[in-house]
Amino acid sequence: MTSSDSTSAGKKITTHTLQAKKMRGEPITMLTGYDYSTAVALDRSGIDGILVGDSLGMVVLGYENTLPVTMQEMIHHCCAVARGARRAHLVADLPFMTYQGSTSEALRNAGSLMKKGGMDAVKLEGGRERAAAVKAIVSAGIPVMGHLGLTPQSVHQLGGWRVQGKSSAAARRLIEDAMILEDAGCYAVVLEAVPVEVAGLVTRRLSIPTIGIGAGAACDGQVLVVHDLLGLFDRFTPGFVKKYANLCSEMQRAFEEYIGEVRERRFPAPEHSHTMDAQEFRDLVREIEMLESGSEADDKLPSRFH
Ligand code: KIV
Repeated sequence: MTSSDSTSAGKKITTHTLQAKKMRGEPITMLTGYDYSTAVALDRSGIDGILVGDSLGMVVLGYENTLPVTMQEMIHHCCAVARGARRAHLVADLPFMTYQGSTSEALRNAGSLMKKGGMDAVKLEGGRERAAAVKAIVSAGIPVMGHLGLTPQSVHQLGGWRVQGKSSAAARRLIEDAMILEDAGCYAVVLEAVPVEVAGLVTRRLSIPTIGIGAGAACDGQVLVVHDLLGLFDRFTPGFVKKYANLCSEMQRAFEEYIGEVRERRFPAPEHSHTMDAQEFRDLVREIEMLESGSEADDKLPSRFH
């Protein structure tokens, strides 16, 4: 099925659709999205899933990393995406320190992303240490996506944005974590910045889909940050990103063209302006002229001229 076929089919993508894709060996497509217009475009493109990632803290809100992102900010962006997307599967990140403290807090915040944000699932970062939270959320009927490898909320503990699972011990631990997340009830796992060999081993061992970002082609699906793909965020671009457009420079070009046309009075042109009925305009001019000449007809003028 081409992307336009699946778009016109209009069938909502669910966790079951994604699982069936893994079974059929069909790649799962996912991108991040944070606003209404992008969600509409993503949905029309036929994408399987939209992740309202806490990466929005960096690419939309300008934070240094994802740690400052709040539930309020996430819900604000989730609502915008949910209004724009009809068909794609919608997942949102639980922000830093909204699920690590206790399972009841994790459950409450996961519930808010679903109830207030209109999401279909939530994502959280970490392996075995998150098993209890995953179980609690899943037992409430909320699908949970895991996230292993380079987990951005742990950037300080990881010592920076580094590839994970490079030693055999680290890779073994990552594979175990993935299996623990599956056992805890996750319906999919994101693998970020891990060697392709490790991603392949995880993907073959799990019966749920793996979604890779910087983890090679062996994963069951791929996700990218939409601002990276579009070339909209140029503070830094991870090596695993492929830019499909350079909208940052295209936006700057458009802004400069607009500024130039306004300065040269070439914008707005007649086709961008509204005009009034010619007789109405003549009446208006006459009224103003009478007012400005201090005419005795002052009190005949409409009250708006007094
Ligand atoms: O927040 C995000 O965008 C993510 C992706 C990088 C997977 O978690």
